[in-house]
Amino acid sequence: MSLLEIKNLETAFRIGDEYFNAVDHITLDLQPNEVLAIVGESGCGKSTLATTVMGLHNENFTKSKGEVIYNNQNLLDLSEGEMSRIRTKEIGMIFQDPLSSLNPLQKIGRQIEEALVYHTDLNKSERDDRVIELLSQVGIPYPERCANQYPHELSGGMRQRVMIAMALSCKPNIIIADEPTTALDVTIQAQILDLLKELQAEMEAGIILITHDLGVVAEMADRVAVLYAGQVIEIGSVSQIFKNPQHPYTKSLLKSIPNFQEDSESDDLYVIDGMVPSLKNLKRTGCRFAERIRWISPEAHEADPVLHDLGDGHQVRCTCYQTFYFKEDGVQ
Ligand SMILES: Nc1ncnc2c1ncn2[C@@H]1O[C@H](COP(=O)(O)OP(=O)(O)O)[C@@H](O)[C@H]1O
Ligand SMILES: [Mg+2]
Repeated sequence: MSLLEIKNLETAFRIGDEYFNAVDHITLDLQPNEVLAIVGESGCGKSTLATTVMGLHNENFTKSKGEVIYNNQNLLDLSEGEMSRIRTKEIGMIFQDPLSSLNPLQKIGRQIEEALVYHTDLNKSERDDRVIELLSQVGIPYPERCANQYPHELSGGMRQRVMIAMALSCKPNIIIADEPTTALDVTIQAQILDLLKELQAEMEAGIILITHDLGVVAEMADRVAVLYAGQVIEIGSVSQIFKNPQHPYTKSLLKSIPNFQEDSESDDLYVIDGMVPSLKNLKRTGCRFAERIRWISPEAHEADPVLHDLGDGHQVRCTCYQTFYFKEDGVQ
């Protein structure tokens, strides 16, 4: 049984008097023990997907439709009170920027303890022990000292470890990590990713790992969903996506990883033309990526691409995949 099933999910933001979909009919599932990566350039809707699952939107400016099924219930139907019992306890979230997610005025130990007060029956001394246990589990060298420090006293890498400790504090079944290492330098990034992977294996949790870094995906994930302009444009196992990408957007993303194509003669990094359209400027019909590639079939401008099933869980949303147009594109 899936840990999480996202069905036909839409999240629209109000801009002026109109609503625009940042998440546009996304269907995805997360299996137990699985790391599902969500990739795509900035502005594709990755964070909006995560915050919708966590129920973190203000209903005055945001509308969500569809289903987020966890434990036989649609999380979109739950009240704020019901959702707050699921957050942290059942679904933990790690945000990109720990400094803006941690309370600057409260000591680290106290902040981790708060989740334990709310979600567990542990008494004060058991909670203190658990805080120290969590801080050492995430590789903080002097956990007692760290528990007594304020966020600004820690380095970026240590703060991110604290965020992970908080997300793990109640042993959630699902962890959503939104660009957990983007703000960190490369060596610390690798340590944090190793740590996440180790802890996931120990806890048997499912992870939704959001990143724009395909190097991270290759290292960590089992499956990959590629998002473009609020839609899943390709999904498959890591080997399907890396060895046999079908969508020109996926191919472009792969081409822009340094050293990915070992046979490439050029040292220049590939850069995808253009940029992700803003919500107001999204194409209403046809392929949303069409304007960023030179050669596509004429139908791509008219028909809305649907997800084609390529077998073994590999799907691509493209009107003209496998046609000669892609080969002309130079992305192939
Ligand atoms: N609160 C908001 N109000 C209006 N538009 C938003 C809001 N948050 C995000 N957006 C827009 O939604 C789109 C998706 O954003 P986001 O989910 O942050 O993308 P990503 O995480 O992939 O970078 C972008 O066009 C962004 O400008
Ligand atoms: Mg984001």
